[in-house]
Amino acid sequence: MSGRVLIVDDEKAMRLALKGLLAKEGYEVDTAESGEDALRRIEPGSFHVVITDLSMKDVDGMEVLEHTRRVDPDAAVVMITAYGSEKVAVAAMKQGAADYLPKPFDNDELRVLVRRVMENARLKRDHRRLLEQVQGAFAGQIVGRSPAMQGVFETIDKVADADVTVLVRGESGTGKELVANALHYKSPRRSKPLVKMNCAALSRELVESELFGHEKGAFTGAISRREGKFEAADGGTLFLDEVGDMPLETQAKLLRAIQEKEFERVGGNQSIRVDVRLIAATNQDLEAATRAGRFREDLYYRLRVVELPLPSLAERREDVPLLVEHFLREAADRFGRPQKPLTAEALRACVAHPWRGNVRELRSAVEQALLLAPGSEITERDLLGSQSVAGAPARPDAGNEATLSFRDAKDRFVADFERGFLLQALRRAGGNITKAAEEIGMYRQNFQQKMRELGITVEDGAERKETR
Ligand SMILES: Nc1ncnc2c1ncn2[C@@H]1O[C@H](COP(=O)(O)OP(=O)(O)OP(=O)(O)O)[C@@H](O)[C@H]1O
Ligand SMILES: [Mg+2]
Repeated sequence: MSGRVLIVDDEKAMRLALKGLLAKEGYEVDTAESGEDALRRIEPGSFHVVITDLSMKDVDGMEVLEHTRRVDPDAAVVMITAYGSEKVAVAAMKQGAADYLPKPFDNDELRVLVRRVMENARLKRDHRRLLEQVQGAFAGQIVGRSPAMQGVFETIDKVADADVTVLVRGESGTGKELVANALHYKSPRRSKPLVKMNCAALSRELVESELFGHEKGAFTGAISRREGKFEAADGGTLFLDEVGDMPLETQAKLLRAIQEKEFERVGGNQSIRVDVRLIAATNQDLEAATRAGRFREDLYYRLRVVELPLPSLAERREDVPLLVEHFLREAADRFGRPQKPLTAEALRACVAHPWRGNVRELRSAVEQALLLAPGSEITERDLLGSQSVAGAPARPDAGNEATLSFRDAKDRFVADFERGFLLQALRRAGGNITKAAEEIGMYRQNFQQKMRELGITVEDGAERKETR
């Protein structure tokens, strides 16, 4: 038997008895000595089964149940109830408990029950993963007919099933993540998880605990053992995004994990062996980072066994009409709006546009235009002229207001405001993201994420551009 179980009971003797029994069955067992304690430990994916006593002081079993259903609906909750409290047991089942166990119960009863709910919880997780796979396979269509993209497709086909490490390179918004998806779903590992991790996290501790997991008590706040991305990706693929931002000390640990195929959780000394295929992505000049001592040379060579450079959109303008058509169809579908064609002039302007945010920027421009264009066609102004970069939050165009739902108008307004606000901060900081984020009290990674969503590039922030 395997799987992770949390036992929640304020009676020590009960906790120990249950833990002993289930550990002997082969489960990884953790205990919580109160409801509060349990709430702190239960995170998405932390346990397969939670066994909780119903009556505890302050936070009781029903609250533990409610919390678990909310943060990790795949986990099964078993409620231990007092003799004769069938009513509460029924209430618990109605709230989504997997089963209940009236006291007193014998060991065999417990064993059988845990085995059954464990199996169920596992099935649920597998099912969710399958769904994600199917969605991933369909969502990730890579569009492009240019010679540059043909080269990309050929490389993907050649290396997808070769189990080698691939380093995907390209400017922001060129489709690095899309390529990582394709590599995974075209590989024999496709039925196993594709786990993604952004390495531009804040601290070294955080990155390492994300990657390798941690043991209980490894650092302040590590209240339970947690499995890292490497373990979660076992048998599948681990996508390390923005690998160039990984702290130097962590790079050494990563290198070892790649070479020896084993690692330790933070604060642990037991070696864990995994079988993981790595795909890394960066938009940085890793060679320069290596020369500057910010990136380990040995890791660099290890990652770029195969290098897959993605062209910027400006290098493949011939794909722009195809992409526009693709995003128009997709957006019309998603928003439930009729499709609108671009005027000839708009299409020409679109092909000539710099698109420094690459495909991501093009996509969001097309989506906005489809939603906001007042006429039956999308004009150049709808597509390129409506985005405010002057700094002040733009008022939604009065002429368009009537045709917008409240929700669309609000999203649009918020996006305009955010774009202006971030750009101002970026300009004041002379294009330095770290400084800009700090100044307005945002984490750098969130700031970068927002920039990507809004199609802002560092160059937008460095120069004074009035229109784009
Ligand atoms: N060739 C393409 N065909 C269709 N859609 C694309 C293509 N390239 C990128 N996209 C779309 O553009 C957006 C950005 O792509 P993606 O997230 O893969 O970029 P990225 O290179 O990872 O960017 P970043 O460095 O900012 O993380 C996504 O919505 C993606 O679906
Ligand atoms: Mg990306």
